[in-house]
Amino acid sequence: MAKQKTIYSCTECGGQTLKWQGQCPHCQAWNTLIETLAEKPVSRFSPVSETGEVQNLSMIEAREEPRYPTGIEELDRVLGGGMVRGGVVLLGGDPGIGKSTLLLQALSSMSAQHAVLYVSGEESAQQVALRAKRLALDVRSVDLYAEIQLEKIQAVLTKRKPAVAVIDSIQTVYSEILQSAPGSVAQVRECAAQLTRLAKSSGTCIILVGHVTKEGALAGPRVLEHMVDTVLYFEGDMHSTFRMIRAFKNRFGAVNELGVFAMSEKGLREVKNPSALFLSHHDAQVPGSCIMVTQEGTRPLLVEIQALVDEARSPNPRRLCVGLEQNRLAMLLAVLHRHAGIPCYDQDVFINAVGGVKITEPGADLAILLAVVSSLKNKPLAEKMIVIGEVGLAGEIRPVQRGQERLKEAAKLGFKQAIIPLANKPKQTIEGMTIIPVARLKDAVVHMH
Ligand SMILES: Nc1ncnc2c1ncn2[C@@H]1O[C@H](COP(=O)(O)OP(=O)(O)OP(=O)(O)O)[C@@H](O)[C@H]1O
Ligand SMILES: [Mg+2]
Ligand SMILES: [Zn+2]
Repeated sequence: MAKQKTIYSCTECGGQTLKWQGQCPHCQAWNTLIETLAEKPVSRFSPVSETGEVQNLSMIEAREEPRYPTGIEELDRVLGGGMVRGGVVLLGGDPGIGKSTLLLQALSSMSAQHAVLYVSGEESAQQVALRAKRLALDVRSVDLYAEIQLEKIQAVLTKRKPAVAVIDSIQTVYSEILQSAPGSVAQVRECAAQLTRLAKSSGTCIILVGHVTKEGALAGPRVLEHMVDTVLYFEGDMHSTFRMIRAFKNRFGAVNELGVFAMSEKGLREVKNPSALFLSHHDAQVPGSCIMVTQEGTRPLLVEIQALVDEARSPNPRRLCVGLEQNRLAMLLAVLHRHAGIPCYDQDVFINAVGGVKITEPGADLAILLAVVSSLKNKPLAEKMIVIGEVGLAGEIRPVQRGQERLKEAAKLGFKQAIIPLANKPKQTIEGMTIIPVARLKDAVVHMH
């Protein structure tokens, strides 16, 4: 038998080289080239959406594609109001976080009105049936197809024309045209492209389940994210029962919405009012704990930031963040030293956002620093206090978006004091809430106890 030729393909851009290199010559990413079998060139590149004559944009009939609500409000919220006809959604998440569970629930609820198909490549038909039974779902109108070969899946989708189809997962699907194994860069890219094409031409909404790597990125080429219309990520602490879904990209809606669920034996239950979910309830105020209000899409969310500052035992003190940005912490500690005169260079600093929630907005800066100061001095913050604000390199406190709404939510949950950026100072008083507007980091530190 002739020796199979191998080439190297990039996991970021899908580009190929003949020899291994440290850096991808196509997208300049480092250490992304992996060995794959050489594929015979396939000439099946037809465009993703239907092509035709050149038209004048104003002459094209602009109709809103119909939306199919999933019946799970928290999921619809992240999707921007439901699935869109012909839309392709990629749902990524850690193993065992609940991707199959959620999608089976969604299909069961959508099957009342639409034809739905669940394509399972990961689990046998029995396993899926067993899950449906455990979750006590009505699956009488849910069709199941246990198959991993792309061509057969395409044939079934073309024949049955379901309104919604789930492919669980894209990494298990393979095309016969390519020689490489399922899950390889070439296979994932080709299968996703073919399914996307099919969704656009047939109007079926397709939900692709995607595995994530240890680093938390979707496994397979980066191009996958560009190909699909919506990318959703499941996140959350595996040890807590709460699970969050966040839109990372959405061509049909806002991207910062957060859907919140609780995992139970009966599946994922919606958490409609999650604003107090990420607070741990201490009997009395403890040092190193500071509560902030973050804004996730249209909803304010109260999150407890915890800091532990401890004398460093090594010349390189440790800075560790869970749920917050690591690099930003080093910068914030430098600002704390220069503009508030509080040094931490001989201290290990650990920061945690309670409940496994990820906070990406800089509005958490001030809460992080006050938690650090509180732990360092071993002195708790004032009772029933919330803190919001971005900290700039000059030691200034910058405003956050929707400050008013955040304050109102905190007041509703019984908080009495708020340290906020001066620019966010509300025009009217908020009942039951004492506002402490600050312009500089120094002033915030003065008012925290
Ligand atoms: N009997 C049960 N009671 C409560 N929770 C359960 C039960 N069985 C499973 N679960 C929950 O369901 C989760 C598995 O969900 P699911 O199979 O949907 O995950 P997944 O994201 O599809 O995983 P994978 O990537 O392995 O396919 C488990 O981690 C567990 O939390
Ligand atoms: Mg699964
Ligand atoms: Zn590349």
